[in-house]
Amino acid sequence: MSTTVSKTTVSKTTASKISTPSTTTHRTALITGASAGIGAAFARHLAAEGYALLLVARRAERLQELAAELTAQHGVRCDVLAADLNDPAAPAAIMAFAEREGIAIDVLINNAGLSGKSSFAGTPWPQLAAEIQLMVTAVTELCHRVLPGMRARGWGRIINLSSLAAFSPPGASLLYTGIKSYVLGMSQSLDMELKPQGIHVTALCPGFTRSEFHDTMGTRDAADKLPGLLWQEADEVVREGWAAVMKGKPVCVPGLVNKLVASSVRPLPVALQYHLGNRLNPFKES
Ligand SMILES: NC(=O)c1ccc[n+]([C@@H]2O[C@H](COP(=O)([O-])OP(=O)(O)OC[C@H]3O[C@@H](n4cnc5c(N)ncnc54)[C@H](OP(=O)(O)O)[C@@H]3O)[C@@H](O)[C@H]2O)c1
Repeated sequence: MSTTVSKTTVSKTTASKISTPSTTTHRTALITGASAGIGAAFARHLAAEGYALLLVARRAERLQELAAELTAQHGVRCDVLAADLNDPAAPAAIMAFAEREGIAIDVLINNAGLSGKSSFAGTPWPQLAAEIQLMVTAVTELCHRVLPGMRARGWGRIINLSSLAAFSPPGASLLYTGIKSYVLGMSQSLDMELKPQGIHVTALCPGFTRSEFHDTMGTRDAADKLPGLLWQEADEVVREGWAAVMKGKPVCVPGLVNKLVASSVRPLPVALQYHLGNRLNPFKES
């Protein structure tokens, strides 16, 4: 087994490969945000199913550790690319890397994401623009870039991480609700267009999920005070999301409590949703 590290066309991007032959499938999954939380859980789940992996995030060391673990456990090929998806050049660089390495992307898990916490007006524009680049533009561009290969092979699976926030009353959480609503709508449109060509697209809409999300957002204390029944483990979210995309379901809200929230909020009058969002947001700054 060998590990190589080399520079790609994006200056902040480094790559390495840990490989042994795949055992049960010749298909490969590209997972963004695989260094933690839901993305790492997707990597574990798909490696156990025999998928080869291309793991992407900024923290190369974490990706390399995960790749080594999954290759040792499951004998799958695991390539690692350290890339910052805030960089508009990153999606093209990821696909150029895949092409150079002879990797065909059959599964795309568009998972990398985070949420800002402070007010919209008080946040510098470059930070807001970076959120849009990471969770709107890069997500959309990666979908577009993997399609030619998927269409040529007549098979593809795409999961885009939306959120229960896309169904919940809008909270004062910067751009997050709007961004995840876009991902929900865009994924359904893509699914309608692509399903006849053998490509399923699912918007995965988790509620509170144990990961590093609230550490990055700076809301760990408030999040820890929320009742346990609101929380899911990352591997539960992944199992339900993966089953949904394989069955061709365009939207997956994992977990019973989240399903109840999603289905009870939607029918409410818009003004009441606004009022509830304003009153109930646990992360609202006073
Ligand atoms: N946890 C929840 O409660 C929850 C609920 C609903 C939806 N979601 C969504 O689920 C997805 C995964 O979140 P999570 O809960 O697993 O959070 P997490 O544990 O914080 O993981 C986030 C992942 O995104 C990567 N990432 C962040 N910025 C990046 C960038 N600029 N370039 C490349 N990778 C980047 C991080 O890797 P590096 O830092 O190494 O780059 C990390 O691997 C997100 O889209 C999130 O919005 C989460």
